[in-house]
Amino acid sequence: MNTNRLSKTIAAALNVQMTKEAHASQIYLSYAAWAGRQGFGGIANFLFRHAQEERNHMMKILEYILKRGAEVKVIAIPAPLENPASINNCFEKIFGHEVDNTKAVYKLVKLSQEEEDWATWNFMQWFVKEQVEEETLAMNLLDKMKIAGGEKMSSNALYSFDRDMEKTSDEVRPAQDVTTVNP
Ligand code: FEO
Repeated sequence: MNTNRLSKTIAAALNVQMTKEAHASQIYLSYAAWAGRQGFGGIANFLFRHAQEERNHMMKILEYILKRGAEVKVIAIPAPLENPASINNCFEKIFGHEVDNTKAVYKLVKLSQEEEDWATWNFMQWFVKEQVEEETLAMNLLDKMKIAGGEKMSSNALYSFDRDMEKTSDEVRPAQDVTTVNP
């Protein structure tokens, strides 16, 4: 008896998105290491934490594919992007990356609607909400930096920004605890 509840197209698209989240994790990890090497411990800590969140997103998709009786395909993760040129550029790149990921999430929502796979459509709504939060977070940090001078931020402003980032919460929610209402 076939218990697979995902179509071939949806399963393939979910597997692609799973790897995309893993790639996002690697990008945050590489930026975190870069920031740490520049001496920005607060920013590095924030980015390391975010790398873990992206890995949780990957796990959330993996668990969903398994739950629906389809095959998970773990493949190679592309290399992270090149290092940023500055702290401002780092967050610009992050914002760009999140917007790119939002587009990928929307494609999956559209596909699930076309296939009338309402379970996947519903599952993907969590990611739609999460992307709004992640874009807002990156936007707010970019706004802060813009006020402080953007690319021309003084050493003092960079120091304060890094210290502020140090104070942000260290908590990373496990994938199984996140819900549509509580991302
Ligand atoms: Fe999992 Fe930042 O998107």
